[in-house]
Amino acid sequence: MQQKPFHLGWFMNFTPDEWHEPFGQGGSPWDGQFYIEMARTLERACFDYIMIEDKLMVSETYGGSAEAGLRGGVMVPKHDPAPLAVAMGMATSRLGVVATMSTLAYPPFLMARLSSTIDSLTKGRFGWNIVTSAEDLAARNFGLDKLPARELRYAMAEEYMDVMGKLFASWEPGAVVLDRAAGIYADFKKVHPIHHEGKFYKVRGPLNTVPSPQGRPVYVQAGASPRGRDFAAKHADSIVSVASGVAEMKAFRADIRARAAAAGRNPDDIKILFCVTPTLGDTGQDAHDRHNRMLNSPSFIDDMLASISAITDIDFAKFALDDPLPERLVTNGEQGSLDKFQQYGSGKTLRQLVVDGAGGLVSSVELIGTPEQVAERMGEVMAEVGGDGFLITTPVLRVSRRYVVEIADGLIPALQRRGLTRTAYKHEKLRDHLLEF
Ligand SMILES: Cc1cc2nc3c(=O)[nH]c(=O)nc-3n(C[C@H](O)[C@H](O)[C@H](O)COP(=O)(O)O)c2cc1C
Repeated sequence: MQQKPFHLGWFMNFTPDEWHEPFGQGGSPWDGQFYIEMARTLERACFDYIMIEDKLMVSETYGGSAEAGLRGGVMVPKHDPAPLAVAMGMATSRLGVVATMSTLAYPPFLMARLSSTIDSLTKGRFGWNIVTSAEDLAARNFGLDKLPARELRYAMAEEYMDVMGKLFASWEPGAVVLDRAAGIYADFKKVHPIHHEGKFYKVRGPLNTVPSPQGRPVYVQAGASPRGRDFAAKHADSIVSVASGVAEMKAFRADIRARAAAAGRNPDDIKILFCVTPTLGDTGQDAHDRHNRMLNSPSFIDDMLASISAITDIDFAKFALDDPLPERLVTNGEQGSLDKFQQYGSGKTLRQLVVDGAGGLVSSVELIGTPEQVAERMGEVMAEVGGDGFLITTPVLRVSRRYVVEIADGLIPALQRRGLTRTAYKHEKLRDHLLEF
């Protein structure tokens, strides 16, 4: 039976360029060219979108200092995603570009205006990855002493989305008249203030940008807690997730689809993409050797612990590497990522968790092999899960040209030969790519 194709995204972790690896460029990626080339490469491979992750702080969680993050270039430094999305979007013509922007950082009016502008500049290919931020240090860059509790963050985010919707609707269809003879640009009777006064936000409106090609950006979300899943199921066009294995992927997808139906949406309108980090080689053995070399590289354990500390607000330097974690850890930050990492009850030592995590922290299933082997496995997994696709990413929060090319010119053609991913774009806008199949 011919399997339906699946969707492909790229979850772009900073920091770019493996500057300390044999094939790293070692140069400065900060003029944007690295990202522009990456976007063009992914467009050649017909990806639906590239998503630019973001955090709003220099983490000091690991070891109580910024040293590990800065020394290893783990999650810092990075560029602001919005101008990067513009640069990548204007250098391509089909690829969707998704920027992560936090409801904590932008007032809704600015978020709506910025999203609308980027959607116009990219001719309808912009997406917003909706995050509420998850770290105290990030909150402290925005006038708060600490991060609001998860429930409050989501309550604020609900109202935020309401304001966004009203702002995008503040220009009625047909408001832009462009009547040269009558001298009318826009019909003022079709552009309305929104007069929003809620619990958290007060916004008059209307938006002062023209309606963008998609009307609003594509919404991407990564809610993991029950509250987060409800939020994602209600609002998202695409959900990004990391699961532990095929059964969990299947269960997550079924859960989201049920929540979407309960919220009155067609579940098929939401594309759930699961993170994977394929390690490719000329032979199966070669791929396993590469994977093991990464696990045994001198900075690996430190880099992984620094990044998990940063996203969970928990200092993993305080736990012994060769003992199991003393208790089930909880955070006001990314609890889903923490649970996936800590595998509570498994009895594994912290070192084992990190080593397992290399294939698992950001990978929903292990994919190690030749392009043909990995493509075959991805097809099997998707058939079992039921759809919708994968989000390719890297285990150690760095991305290199070499890795991007291996995926785009090795793995993707192997997927295409099996009819598993598209060989040409049918549409021009991001939402249409997502709804194509
Ligand atoms: C694949 C993936 C990517 C994420 N990317 C970001 C990101 O770039 N920036 C961010 O602040 N949070 C990011 N998050 C965190 C989510 O936005 C969310 O805070 C987290 O999943 C916890 O959700 P919960 O509170 O519903 O459990 C990501 C989560 C996942 C699973």
